Parts: sequence; C-alpha cells; structure tokens
Amino acid sequence: MRVIRAELRAFRNYASVTFEPDAGITVLCGKNAQGKTNLLEAVVLCSVGRSHRTNHDRELIQWDAPRASVSLETERRDGTHDVKIILNRGGGARAKQVLIGASPVARIGELMGHVPSVLFSPEDLSLVKDGPGERRRFMDMTLSQLRPQYFYALQQYSRALKQRNGLLRALSISFASASEAASQLEPWDEILSRAGASIIMYRVWFLDRLARDARDAHAHLSGSNETLAARFICPFGKEDNAARALLDALRNGRARDLASRGTGMGPHRDDFELTLNGKQVKVYGSQGQQRTAALALKLAAFSTIRDELDDSPVLLLDDVMSELDAERRRRLLSWTPGVQKIITCTDESDLTGAVVGKMCMVDNGAIV
Ligand SMILES: Nc1ncnc2c1ncn2[C@@H]1O[C@H](COP(=O)(O)OP(=O)(O)OP(=O)(O)O)[C@@H](O)[C@H]1O
Ligand SMILES: [Mg+2]
Repeated sequence: MRVIRAELRAFRNYASVTFEPDAGITVLCGKNAQGKTNLLEAVVLCSVGRSHRTNHDRELIQWDAPRASVSLETERRDGTHDVKIILNRGGGARAKQVLIGASPVARIGELMGHVPSVLFSPEDLSLVKDGPGERRRFMDMTLSQLRPQYFYALQQYSRALKQRNGLLRALSISFASASEAASQLEPWDEILSRAGASIIMYRVWFLDRLARDARDAHAHLSGSNETLAARFICPFGKEDNAARALLDALRNGRARDLASRGTGMGPHRDDFELTLNGKQVKVYGSQGQQRTAALALKLAAFSTIRDELDDSPVLLLDDVMSELDAERRRRLLSWTPGVQKIITCTDESDLTGAVVGKMCMVDNGAIV
C-alpha cells in the first residue's frame, strides 16, 4: 500500500494543503512547531480512526473552524482507494464521519486495514520505559489494524468494564448484600469474560509473532549479538478455556472489587515484558538500548501487519533520525527497501547519505 495523496482541510495548523509523498522515502523537514507531525497524524487518523497524540478529536480541528477533514488516496494491489474522515466540532453522533470510497461507514472498525500504517516517534520510548498502559495501547493499535474483530471485542470490553466499575461503586455506597451484588454483577462478568477471552486470544497470537519479528528487527538495527525477547504477561494467557478462567476470577474477586471499587482482573491489566539477553530493558537498558528496543517493536509491528495483510503499511518516522547514531540510521533506512517511508526531521543533515525520493520543507502550516 502507498499513500498517493493526502488532502487536509482545517486540520491542526493546515487551513488547506495537498501532500503527495514519494513511493519511496519522503522527508518532511522544518523548524519546530511548523506542522511536520501534524501531517503524519493526519495519515494515522485515516489509518486507525484516531490520533496517536490525543483522545480528543476536537483538538485536531483548526482553532475556530467548525470542521476538519482528511482525505487520503492510496494505491493497493487492486487499484486506488479513497478514505476520508470528517471531524465536526459540534460533536454528537456526527462528530466523526468515515467515508470509504464515497460511502459513509457506520462503524469505525470498517476502516481497519484500509490504510495500514506504523508510526514511530520519540514518545515511543514510553513503550519500554513506562507502565503497561502504553504497551496495551500499542497492542491495541496494531492488532486492530489486523483484526477488526479484535477492535470490536475491545470496544465491547471497555464499555462493559465501565459499566461494571460504575456498578461496583454504586453497590459499595449502598452497602448491598453479597447476593444482591452477585446477581447484579453476573451479567457484566459474563460479557467481560467472553469479550476478554477473545482479546486475550488475539494478544497471545500477536505477541508470539511480534516477539519473533522484534528479535529479528533488533538484530538488524543494532548489529549486535544481544537478543531482544518479548513475553506476554497475562494470568489467563495459557488457559485452554480463558473465558471460563476469567469468569471464575471475576466471580471470586467480587468482594475485593467491591472494596476497591474497581475491577482487578482481566485484559485491562495485561502487559508484556522486554528483555535483552535476559535482562529487563526497562530496568537495565541504556537510553540507546531502550530506544532501539522501542524501534524494533515498531518495526516488528510493521512486519506482522505486512505479512498478515500481504501488503506493506506506510512507515511514518517522526523525528527519529537525530536520536540514532549514524550506523543505526543507515540500518533503519536500509530496512525493508521499497517500502513507503515518510520521515520528519529538523535538520537535513540527519538524512545525509539516504536515498531520498522527495524533500518537502514544512513551514507554518504549508508545504513549500
Ligand atoms: N487545532 C489546531 N489548530 C491550529 N493549530 C494547531 C492546532 N493544534 C496544533 N496546532 C499548531 O500546530 C503546530 C505544531 O505542529 P507539529 O506538532 O506538527 O509541529 P512539528 O513541525 O512536528 O514540530 P516539532 O519539530 O517541534 O516536533 C503548533 O504551532 C501548534 O500551535
Ligand atoms: Mg513534531
């Protein structure tokens, strides 16, 4: 897959712009705060239906504008495709409209896989350094592109979890009896265990693939003999019947959940651990080792998506060049030749030696 054209209207600091990246490497170069990341964000929006930087779509709409839109024309094996997202400031049911071809789609999940993309930015260091939430978000963003069913299970799970947590609070305030609590919680526990088991099943499969691809990508990037390993951490991951095990855990945990007014068990607690030669990267890794591990994870997501969809995602590299040494930069750019890459930088010299197809200067919401 490649992006042929992106048209942004009232999106972030772009009043109106048309961006036509090269089939190979495109560099977006400019000073800070000119709109380089905003362009990548527009591609991400069409890829997964949301920004990688914010949960609030309205922040993407240009200040004072009533609506924003991003249209992408892509080329896939079977021809050209159009995806368009319109964000309305008014909110409500029409806050976000998704069009594939010229037809509006009812569910954002239908977008998944149309514009596969993988973005790497300096904040991805948090994948290695921060808490499990970042790693779950990464699993969710990548897996959703591969399996719309995963995206729907996730939606169903999050809604049910919110309901269950609300109910736990209400029950604990009203000092409900154990049997009353049990009968009210039971339907939510059943939904959570079914959707949760489906999420866990997909994550087990994904982590297995990811671990292999991350190890290979890491070996390519670092050129060292250190081995990167990723291990899924989930108490239900090895169960034959994860739904049953999760349901039992939810039932048995009710008293504790009522006391803490929150759900202590389930895939919203999943994580994965990263090690280099058996040592936790988070604890023992140098800054450079952590950055390379994070990048290897993203490249692994790329390989997994490419192999599963039998089509290459577009690789978006935000500001990574300045953070890598010359050798790793070269290794990154030589990785999967022929794939469309859009790279941002503040200094052209960061790309010295790279075969750049197109150089775009980004200046205050315009491509010059
Ligand atoms: N909703 C919005 N409406 C208008 N302008 C916005 C909006 N949201 C962000 N901006 C502006 O966009 C600019 C930031 O763009 P972006 O993050 O793409 O910068 P960048 O070129 O990637 O910079 P850096 O090199 O610092 O990462 C800022 O000037 C910010 O004020
Ligand atoms: Mg930026």
